[in-house]
Amino acid sequence: MEKLTYTHDAQAAAVIASVYQDAPPLAYVHSFGCQQNVNDGEKIRGVLMDVGFGMCDNVEQADLILFNTCAVREHAEQRVFGNVGALKKLKEKNPKLVIGVCGCMAQQQHIVDKLRKSYPYVDLVFGVDGIDRLPAMLAERFRRGKRYLENPKARNAVVEDLPIRRDSGFRAWLPIMYGCDNFCTYCIVPYVRGRERSREPEDILAEFRQLVEQGYKEITLLGQNVNSYGKGLENPIDFADLLVRLCEVPGNYQIRFMTSHPKDASRKLIDTIAAQPHLCKHIHLPVQSGSDRILKQMNRHYTVEQYHELIEYARSKIPGVTFSSDIIVGFPGETEEDFQKTLDLVESVGYMQLFTFIYSKREGTPAAKMEDPITREEKTARMDRLLRTQEKIAFASIASLVGQTVRVLVEGAGRLEGTLNGRLDNNLVVEFAGADTLIGEYAEVRLTGSRAALLLGELADTQN
Ligand code: 5AD
Ligand code: SF4
Repeated sequence: MEKLTYTHDAQAAAVIASVYQDAPPLAYVHSFGCQQNVNDGEKIRGVLMDVGFGMCDNVEQADLILFNTCAVREHAEQRVFGNVGALKKLKEKNPKLVIGVCGCMAQQQHIVDKLRKSYPYVDLVFGVDGIDRLPAMLAERFRRGKRYLENPKARNAVVEDLPIRRDSGFRAWLPIMYGCDNFCTYCIVPYVRGRERSREPEDILAEFRQLVEQGYKEITLLGQNVNSYGKGLENPIDFADLLVRLCEVPGNYQIRFMTSHPKDASRKLIDTIAAQPHLCKHIHLPVQSGSDRILKQMNRHYTVEQYHELIEYARSKIPGVTFSSDIIVGFPGETEEDFQKTLDLVESVGYMQLFTFIYSKREGTPAAKMEDPITREEKTARMDRLLRTQEKIAFASIASLVGQTVRVLVEGAGRLEGTLNGRLDNNLVVEFAGADTLIGEYAEVRLTGSRAALLLGELADTQN
């Protein structure tokens, strides 16, 4: 693994300045997919601003349009192609417009080939490891007056000190590792984001301290499998110990993290969550399926029983802990019996939130070669049944919270005038009356009722 440090590219900045002599150029950057991608998008904005770009949130105004893409499911890829296709007219009107596609989709050769062949108005293509080189790529595009399309290659590096323009002033994403080594058979991530590599704890701590000093109230640590953090570092450290070191930083903040892989989530981690007040008492623990047979086919390396043991251990150690999960419906060969086991698991765990996905075939993954006899209609019907089961459980557990007074982080305006949205420690949202000045602060809210998945409340007291 290579550690690189970003440095300002003065030459590239000069080339960009010479192209846009009349007025500073504006960039529109849109990120699809997971939080890792959103954080990459924030870095893309930071890097572009470092070489003279301003930001805009309207494609019509933009000199550069960049889609930072997701490859996890086919639907996300289709949306990107749809969005790119819609820009053709804009490019005809303004031939100087630069259109770029980057991120996970651009990390697949067949996608780059398709962009090269069928989307001639796309000027710039680069993968997940290209953010630090974006100024140089843009300069190259202008110097040569030709499209700049990079073929995917894995660089296996960690780049530190990238400038960043964060979307929020009170919630921040903090990646602790990149890539994934798990090779779940349905998943494209290890192929597009490369091998797992951890950031040095000192680099993470420095960024964390800075965020706390800047007043960030919630910091979410990111990694495809945070529980395997630290492997391969010169001085290996595990995730629980990293959390302890971060929690030593004084300040008024809370920490979340995602994603935990059940095979690597340790009892030590659970004990750490129980002991550290800064850590949210909520664990996102994707189970994917409730059938041991399917879990094996997925290469997940745990059984339903082991998963239950972990949940039970957490419940015994962390009062009020809640869980959320990801589930894939209709994995190749999933029978009615397998699916019923998933419903049983969902009922017995009682998740606060569930993220459900119909299996999407990803070219190049082992599951893409498996027999998949179940029809789309059957998969959709199973999805509906899963959602109905989850709704029943979640609404009941949400309603059971009514009467409590809880601390929330106020995230923004609610749907009704004069109301605010606050997020509980367990990731649920409560709506209550309050002034805009509370946005970005903690508030004490008494939960007075619930409407489906939404909690209703009233301000009890405020604190910073
Ligand atoms: N099809 C459907 N869902 C998928 N996920 C990952 N790959 C696929 C796929 N090929 C889901 C998993 C993962 C979440 C981020 O996306 O549930 O946890
Ligand atoms: Fe994909 Fe599995 Fe890695 Fe998650 S742990 S990114 S599902 S391969």
